[in-house]
Amino acid sequence: MAGNWKMYKTPAETKAFFEKFLPLVSGASHCEIVINPPFVNIAAAVDAAKGSRVEIGGQNLYWAKEGAFTGEISGPMLKASGAEWVIIGHSERRQYFGETDETVLKRTVAALEADLKPIVCVGEMLAEREAGETEAVLRTQFDGGIAGLSPEQFAKIVIAYEPVWAIGTGKTATPEMAADAHRVLRSLVTAKFGADAGAAVRILYGGSVKPDNVKGLMAQPEIDGALVGGASLDPGSFASIVNF
Ligand code: PGA
Repeated sequence: MAGNWKMYKTPAETKAFFEKFLPLVSGASHCEIVINPPFVNIAAAVDAAKGSRVEIGGQNLYWAKEGAFTGEISGPMLKASGAEWVIIGHSERRQYFGETDETVLKRTVAALEADLKPIVCVGEMLAEREAGETEAVLRTQFDGGIAGLSPEQFAKIVIAYEPVWAIGTGKTATPEMAADAHRVLRSLVTAKFGADAGAAVRILYGGSVKPDNVKGLMAQPEIDGALVGGASLDPGSFASIVNF
């Protein structure tokens, strides 16, 4: 269960979140719990989560280790700050910051080299779904961004299916729609990396996951977890999602 805070919260607000959140999830041993705050809050989050099962991640990284890349953050920097995870290729990165399947692959390889666990996002836009292109879009994103990994690299990533039309809109994919897309992704994994990889890969659903719809989504055997934006900002609501 991963929370994507996007561009919300200061270090002080991060600390306050964890003070409320940790007691609420102290009994949750059924899943891994990850919070991905903005870069400037990672130190505060790592500090606040110390001694708990909650792990911290970044929301992006650049593929070079260091260099003249103003404004960028590298995998080794994230790792050294105490992050264990990193979100890659989120649709907001693709839509607003020009990320492509090719750069998603570069970032994923860089994350693995830094010993970070990548959460690689894919998902179709509304017009693509309405045109019946969901499967083709997922295939293109998979082929261009994930299929370039070696089997050893692939075994270490988590995939997040996030239909763009469901992100921040309050429109969730129905559990059946999400499961259908997860099945497509799993079959792409099986075709490329084999049946064991297809069975083992964890696929998270993301897009308006809330305390009141998480149970239905998680009842689908195809759905292994959730990547939660808006509802991860409030300790009570993210804790109810974790404890679904
Ligand atoms: P949302 O965001 O839960 O606010 O829809 C999900 C995401 O973008 O990861």
